[in-house]
Amino acid sequence: MTPPPGTLLAAEDLRKSYGPTVALDGAGFSIHPGEVVAVMGPSGSGKSTLLHCLAGIVPPDSGSIVYDGRELAGMSDTERSALRRSEFGFVFQFGQLVPELTCVENVALPLRLNGRPRKEAERAALAWMQRLEVDDLAAKRPGEVSGGQGQRVAVARALVTEPRVIFADEPTGALDSLNGERVMELLTEAARSANAAVVLVTHEARVAAYSDREIVVRDGRSRDMERAI
Ligand SMILES: Nc1ncnc2c1ncn2[C@@H]1O[C@H](COP(=O)(O)OP(=O)(O)OP(=O)(O)O)[C@@H](O)[C@H]1O
Ligand SMILES: [Mg+2]
Repeated sequence: MTPPPGTLLAAEDLRKSYGPTVALDGAGFSIHPGEVVAVMGPSGSGKSTLLHCLAGIVPPDSGSIVYDGRELAGMSDTERSALRRSEFGFVFQFGQLVPELTCVENVALPLRLNGRPRKEAERAALAWMQRLEVDDLAAKRPGEVSGGQGQRVAVARALVTEPRVIFADEPTGALDSLNGERVMELLTEAARSANAAVVLVTHEARVAAYSDREIVVRDGRSRDMERAI
């Protein structure tokens, strides 16, 4: 597949089954640099599977995924994991912070894994924590902060490597609406200022309202929606 010029990440005719269960049945996708796309749809429709395929975490059975002009299927495992480490950031429903590390160490972790010295990594981590308004929690461990604060720490961690795409799977699913909106505001604001694209899986309309465009997944097939307003 050759996506139109200016496309950062595109997928065509993705199929994926788990045994007899068809998770993706010909799904497509595209996103431009800096764009925020909401992936919506009922439970079990294939949203997370689509996100995992796009992020190179799960290989589809067939179909094509092109990131920045390169087919993911044509890359080696090492190349794909390097891509995930350097170009992609991830936020999940439950922050998945490392409980033994402090918040600043958690945010600095992706940089440390990329070989950056501790001081430098933690300085960059603190700068992102400031933008997400959680720098005062730097020395606390994830178990000592609230759900909303933890998700903001997770967003800082996703952004610290200055990725070009952030994959967020129900990032506010475990939060009350006030905290959820604040996390979405800060996530989209920070992503836009860094010109990072966001693939945002949600089934909440108020969360999707933060996106530029919506894709609806139903029974493993996707449809691009024109925004009503
Ligand atoms: N690792 C797996 N093994 C077996 N079946 C799976 C696996 N992952 C997903 N499925 C199945 O594939 C289908 C799509 O699942 P997926 O997790 O993509 O849905 P979803 O839209 O993200 O749902 P939710 O909104 O509940 O998170 C479901 O029927 C699910 O049970
Ligand atoms: Mg899911």
